[in-house]
Amino acid sequence: MSESSAADILARAQSEIVACQTPEQVEAFRIQYLGKKGIVTAMLKGLADVAPDQRKVIGQQANELRSQIESLLTDKQAALGGARSKSPITIDYTLPGKRYPNGKLHPITQTLNEITDIFHGMGFEIALGPEVETEHYNFGSLNFPPDHPARDMQDTFYISKDLLLRTHTSPIQVREFEKKKPPVRIIAPGRTYRQEAISARSYCVFHQVEGFYVDRDVTFADLKGVINAFAQTYFGSDVKMRWRPSFFPFTEPSAEVDISCFLCGGKGCRICKHEGWLEILGCGMIDPNVFAAVNYDPEEYSGYAFGMGIERIAMLRHQIDDIRLFFENDLRFLNQF
Ligand code: PHE
Repeated sequence: MSESSAADILARAQSEIVACQTPEQVEAFRIQYLGKKGIVTAMLKGLADVAPDQRKVIGQQANELRSQIESLLTDKQAALGGARSKSPITIDYTLPGKRYPNGKLHPITQTLNEITDIFHGMGFEIALGPEVETEHYNFGSLNFPPDHPARDMQDTFYISKDLLLRTHTSPIQVREFEKKKPPVRIIAPGRTYRQEAISARSYCVFHQVEGFYVDRDVTFADLKGVINAFAQTYFGSDVKMRWRPSFFPFTEPSAEVDISCFLCGGKGCRICKHEGWLEILGCGMIDPNVFAAVNYDPEEYSGYAFGMGIERIAMLRHQIDDIRLFFENDLRFLNQF
């Protein structure tokens, strides 16, 4: 057998394999070349008759031809196999689709957004501040005396001597006063931390919304008007409110505002500590000492500030009797909102 005849056979096989379109045709091709009576098999068998000095060369050619044809076959089989897997899958387009559960906002986030939106609608700008705060912004700049009990490690999570987790959103007041000149009208939502005994009413992490307005001739009546407008928008026009004198180092005069307890209708229950009222915010006229430290002239400007607890408000609104539910992330609870 000459070299050209092996090459001829390969060339023929190459053109024939291209024509094979079905597994049956591929099998016929295999039998034709590599079957018991196939062309390549015959060549290998015929080696016995070849002169001994030619045997080695022709044997190599025949083996090479066999492996070339084998690889033609495996390539073709793979190509046809691939084509088979691409064959049309039957899809029933009338079947209902898979239902993917929708994510939603946490009830506290919803409450924060709703409250922030109401004040935004009344002309307040939105500002944020850091949760890791300095002793200066959290206490000093807000006129807390050095020995004030809130500064105690018992009440505040300290990170170092000067750094702490903010205990309220009021430091945002000072941060904004340092950046802006009056008029300043801001609503500032955020997360706050206090080292409190955990109970149905208090948790170590909670949220507040801070609001403040500084301008010429701002009065306590403006504060009452804004808080009344907010409460009626958020709780409905027949909500009952109660203003009590109070004290905060950074406001003078100061007040706390209570709302009639939704859960018991004012009769008294576990949530309102059997008083019928729930405190929702602290407020007052900003102390001149706070203004002086940020170079606002207390003779020229006055302002009010208020801060409200979001968990309390959400509890009232949704009649929830345990604050811890907000932090457990139990879907049976969260899915209700
Ligand atoms: N920061 C106060 C608190 O957390 C609330 C407050 C805000 C009071 C603004 C007066 C003015 O209790």
